[in-house]
Amino acid sequence: MDSNEKCDTNKLFGLNGQSAHPLTDANGDMYNIGFSLFPSAKYSVVKMAKANSSKEMMKKAKIIASIPSQWNGAMAVNHSFGMTQNYIIFIEQPFVVTLSKIAQSVLKGETLKDVLEWRSQEKNRFHIIEKGSGKVVKTEIVAADPFYFMHFVNCFEQDGQVIVKQYKQTKEASASNV
Ligand SMILES: [Fe+2]
Repeated sequence: MDSNEKCDTNKLFGLNGQSAHPLTDANGDMYNIGFSLFPSAKYSVVKMAKANSSKEMMKKAKIIASIPSQWNGAMAVNHSFGMTQNYIIFIEQPFVVTLSKIAQSVLKGETLKDVLEWRSQEKNRFHIIEKGSGKVVKTEIVAADPFYFMHFVNCFEQDGQVIVKQYKQTKEASASNV
């Protein structure tokens, strides 16, 4: 977006933050996935429909879908997400920030790295959201093994299927990368 103005997503949508990589589709509409921590942790898909200026896009922006965190008091690190022509793909990874650790970090003056937690007994859950309706169409696809990632490689639709090309890193890699 070509704006130098600040935008407070908390005031606009009640979100505490958004992923680092919003995506724009062929129509010119921009999407991002944000999160809110209270009253319970959830992820929200924000659509910023194409407009003549970035200011207007922000004015028209709205949350089209929300997904509760699969964990009580914790939520996945979400640096990026995937998009196809018709769908948003969000992978909830077992690399989490816990609300109790955030409170602790504020008191102790710790960094974000200190509040992250790798949950090796948990697995990645794939969420697929239809862009047109905002409907969450799939949430039951779960990875065979837990994995960490920062960025998506590629997503596309083929023969009625959503294909996600993704790399996987191990817990050790995740710890050294953040
Ligand atoms: Fe990045």
